[in-house]
This record gives sequence, C-alpha cells and structure tokens, in this order.
Amino acid sequence: MVRGNRIRREKLMKAVVVKEAGGRAELTEFPTPEPGPGQIRVRLAAAGVNPVDGKTASGAYGEGSYPFVPGTDGAGTVDRVGPEVTSFSPGDQVFGRLQLARWRGTYAEYTLVPADGVIARLPPGLDFVTAAALPVAGVTAMGVLEELGLEPGAALFVLGATGGVGGFLTQFAALAGMVVVVTADSTLAPRMQALGATHTVDHHSSEPLLNQVRAVRPGGIDALVDLVGDPSTLLPLLELLPLGGVVLSIAQEIEPELLGARGLSGGRYRRQPTAEMLEELGRLVAEGRVKVPLERILPLSQGPEVLAESTGGHLHGKTVLTIP
Ligand SMILES: NC(=O)c1ccc[n+]([C@@H]2O[C@H](COP(=O)([O-])OP(=O)(O)OC[C@H]3O[C@@H](n4cnc5c(N)ncnc54)[C@H](OP(=O)(O)O)[C@@H]3O)[C@@H](O)[C@H]2O)c1
Repeated sequence: MVRGNRIRREKLMKAVVVKEAGGRAELTEFPTPEPGPGQIRVRLAAAGVNPVDGKTASGAYGEGSYPFVPGTDGAGTVDRVGPEVTSFSPGDQVFGRLQLARWRGTYAEYTLVPADGVIARLPPGLDFVTAAALPVAGVTAMGVLEELGLEPGAALFVLGATGGVGGFLTQFAALAGMVVVVTADSTLAPRMQALGATHTVDHHSSEPLLNQVRAVRPGGIDALVDLVGDPSTLLPLLELLPLGGVVLSIAQEIEPELLGARGLSGGRYRRQPTAEMLEELGRLVAEGRVKVPLERILPLSQGPEVLAESTGGHLHGKTVLTIP
C-alpha cells in the first residue's frame, strides 16, 4: 500500500487457502489479519479439524467469500487486541471457535475472534493440541447430552460414535451413569469401551443394526443420537424407541410428523455453543475426567489433504494440525 512516498508492505502469514469455489486448498501466504474494535488476534499453535471445515469449503453453507481459510477450532496465544477489548490481553493462552466468520478460519498462523465469542483461557494442565480438539465436537456433545435430559440408568444409542463428537458423547453419557450403546467395528470397539461404552454394535457387519441393538439391549433403549446424517440408516432404527423416546440428530433434519406419529420427541440439535460450556469442558479435560480421543497430530502443511478428508464423515477420533 502507498502512503505519501512510503510503501507499507502487507504482513503475510502461512495459511491453508481455497482461492475459489470448488478450488483445491493449498498452503500459501495470506495477509495477516488486523484486529478491529472488539476483536482479538490469536497466534495459533494448533487447529482442530471438523467435518464442517470441508463442508464449508465445498460450498455446503452457501457461496461464501473467497479466498477462504478453513478451520473453526484452534488454540494459541493472544498477540494483539483491538480497541474496546478488556477481557483478554496479549500473552493470554486461549482456545475456542477462533474465527470471525466461516471464511476466515484457523488453518493459519493468525486468526481473529470476537472477544465475546466462544473463546476461553487455557486452564492449567491443558496443552494447545489437546485444547484445539475440544471446541466443536466436545461442546456439541455436551449440549446434546443436556438436551436429551436423561436420568442415570437410561439407555442411549449413539449412531456414528467413532468420530469426533461420538468420542466425547460416549464419555459424557457414561459419566452421567447411562447405559451407552455405540456403533464401532471390531478394530475400534476396545477404544470405545475404554471411553465408557457399555455395548458396541458393528455398523460394517451384514447383520442389521436394529437386530444387533435388540440383541444387546432386549429391554430397549430410551434415546438415540444420530451423528451420521443418513435418513436410510436412521429411519429403521426409530423402531428401537418406546413411546416417549427421544431422537436427536446433529447431522440431518427429522420431520416432526415422523416423530409425532411414533410418539417420539426430539429433532435436529441446534443449540448455540457458549464460552461457559467451553470453559467447563476445558476444566473437565484438565482434571482428567474427560479424555480427548486424539487420533492424528499433523503439521499445517497437511491441511489441504486433511480438509479434503474431513467432509467424508469417516474420521476416527480427532485430528489436529500443529502450527509452528
Ligand atoms: N449441528 C452441530 O452443531 C454439529 C456439530 C458437530 C458436528 N456436526 C456434524 O455431525 C456429523 C458428525 O461429526 P463428527 O465430527 O463426529 O464427524 P466424524 O469425526 O467424521 O465422525 C463420523 C463417524 O461416523 C462413523 N460413521 C459413518 N457412517 C456411519 C454409519 N452408517 N453408521 C455408523 N457410523 C458411521 C464414521 O466411522 P466409519 O468410517 O468407521 O464408518 C466416523 O467415525 C458431521 O456431519 C458434522 O458436520 C454437527
């Protein structure tokens, strides 16, 4: 930029960037964002990967604004704050949903976040990589369990449990004293049992899930949470629920008439995450009461490949990118 007779160069950072709709992501240089009023700039140390990252890049949430930097979850150190920010200062270690908008995310060296957004200080004992794995998946799982409103001893079936959200939901349900039935094939079953699953049923087996769940829970289940989003998988499983049963999906709409006709309640989960939920989750993990199902820790340079994989609905545990 030319100011008088001085040339001011824009500072650049490394970021994973999708330059146009449908384009390939690449690790490249991108202007370092400057915080405006009420905004915080974070120097990221780690970015958590979620299916929403790839879905946004592929246009699932509308046209958006290109060039696009993916990534919602992150952890790092506040390095600059804009006017009117009093709640955070440079040097604070933070984690959260660190983006101003879907199109300016955390697969980068720096990101901006509103000071009143879903951001929290890193509790003692929590490292950046672990913290970056928490926000979207962990807070969603926490909210889903609250919304179900089940009592200890109730039986919950989690469909699609081996990914990011399921790893947390299984633990929260087990901690709350529920019987937890989850989908996991034989390679992942021991891991899900270690997280608190009471029974596992294999969604890759030729035996229908309906029969498998009935076999392990002859007394039935009280609630079902769908983390997959495929109507043809979910619909036959509604038969498992008694009158008054609850069904929640974080990945698809469920017609109210469909539930009403069967005497069920629930529908699509829509609760907005809050900084308070994130703080509570951070505390639970730092105290060792909740484990983080970390599957892969990869360098930012692998962001383009990871972004492409994230959309498929077949991640296991959590993937985190480290940002040197
Ligand atoms: N509404 C919200 O607030 C919210 C928040 C977070 C996530 N989401 C959405 O919720 C979904 C799950 O998120 P996530 O982060 O947990 O995804 P993820 O990490 O990709 O995990 C999905 C898991 O589902 C399993 N799976 C796929 N098809 C299955 C089937 N037919 N039966 C049983 N299991 C199956 C996969 O294992 P296999 O590969 O072994 O089958 C995988 O481990 C995504 O669509 C995401 O966008 C919504």
